[in-house]
Amino acid sequence: MFTVLALALIPATRYYQIDQPLLRLFRGAGAVDPLALHLEGEFVENNLGTEQGSDGSVTVRMIAQQYLFVPHCILVPAGVPVHLRITSADAVHALAFNGTDYNVKVLPGTISEAQLRFANPGEFKTVCREFCGAGHYAMRSALKVVPREQFPVLQAGERGNCAVQ
Ligand code: CUA
Repeated sequence: MFTVLALALIPATRYYQIDQPLLRLFRGAGAVDPLALHLEGEFVENNLGTEQGSDGSVTVRMIAQQYLFVPHCILVPAGVPVHLRITSADAVHALAFNGTDYNVKVLPGTISEAQLRFANPGEFKTVCREFCGAGHYAMRSALKVVPREQFPVLQAGERGNCAVQ
């Protein structure tokens, strides 16, 4: 009897390993592998940051990880729709911009999306609002909003760069 119980307990304590393939199956299209973010797919390093669409709107791709946001400083134009796509490399985080109501929960394995808009040029502190470990309170970065006409054409590789040309 004891042996049976012990055997049944093994999978119960390893549920997080067994769950992985199943969860991936159910998550479908929005799924990303937190361990392969830097290797392949949408969240490789030179695809992060701000990318401008032909309609003038921008897409911002970011990674949250203990204990920083990548890119560390992002640049967006004022007054245009900003499509945010963010995922986590490890724990649960929450991306917030001080002075705004935006607060986006970020989970490993999934892509969180949000539609943002910053009416005026300015600088916002980007902070983590979900306790994610010892370095949580140091998890800070920045978002710079520049006038639409001053927004530079960013090439892949400099999309995460805050410097205005
Ligand atoms: Cu990340 Cu708190």
